[in-house]
Amino acid sequence: MNYHDALSRLGVMNAHPGGADVTLAWMNSITVSPGAKVLDIGCGNGDTACKLAETFDAEVTAVDLHPRMVNNTKRLASARGVRIHGVVGNVEALPLANDTFDLVVAESVLVFTNIQRSIREIRRVVKSSGQVVDVEMMVLEPVTDEWRKEVRSIYGAKEVPDATGWKARWKQGGFRGKVLRSGPLSSLHVDANQRDMGLADDLALSDPNVLRVLERNGRWMQEHGHQMGYVVFLLNPEFGS
Ligand SMILES: C[S@@+](CC[C@H](N)C(=O)[O-])C[C@H]1O[C@@H](n2cnc3c(N)ncnc32)[C@H](O)[C@@H]1O
Repeated sequence: MNYHDALSRLGVMNAHPGGADVTLAWMNSITVSPGAKVLDIGCGNGDTACKLAETFDAEVTAVDLHPRMVNNTKRLASARGVRIHGVVGNVEALPLANDTFDLVVAESVLVFTNIQRSIREIRRVVKSSGQVVDVEMMVLEPVTDEWRKEVRSIYGAKEVPDATGWKARWKQGGFRGKVLRSGPLSSLHVDANQRDMGLADDLALSDPNVLRVLERNGRWMQEHGHQMGYVVFLLNPEFGS
């Protein structure tokens, strides 16, 4: 059982730095026209995808590698009376057409992927007039190979850049933009109640495999949380890239 299996079985929503508060903050910083085509990549259990449809009356597509996440997103959308087009797919090779989306959203997703490949795909599917919001974990200080190995084993994170590294990757991928907010993880309010019980699997909390994932996550965060920060980018495709 990996970290994302556990999140899907527990029905954990807003599994990104700052949770729903950070989502609300960036949603208040952008303009999206009614009927706009919006893509939420690595949508998880679907709260942000639903909010995008509810807040902006947008036409939302939600993609996740994990079929259970996509299924949960569809169930949540139907419970909240919004339409979401759910797609099982890989951010590194999106099964979506070029130049389609007015807004692409990624909340704590790219660290689990080959970042350059994912950014290339985002560049391909976003319209040249479109925008991208990316909420990411970052490291605040240099970390060891041992640290990276552990993060890969516990979370499946392939790479966790620092702020400069993130900026360089977006620039190299053909985007310009700004940081809406950033800081240490410890500066964020932690909402302990982010589970949707309608999505949760009743047996999840009695499954030792799920409990093991939770315990490893809790222990790692206690030991290493101070080395972690977050950054929220608002980006646009660079003209001519
Ligand atoms: C930490 S969770 C965040 C989920 C959601 N964005 C949220 O904020 O609650 C990361 C999500 O990315 C998905 N994911 C990881 N690698 C992916 C990939 N290569 N393509 C698509 N989704 C991926 C996982 O299945 C998981 O749902």
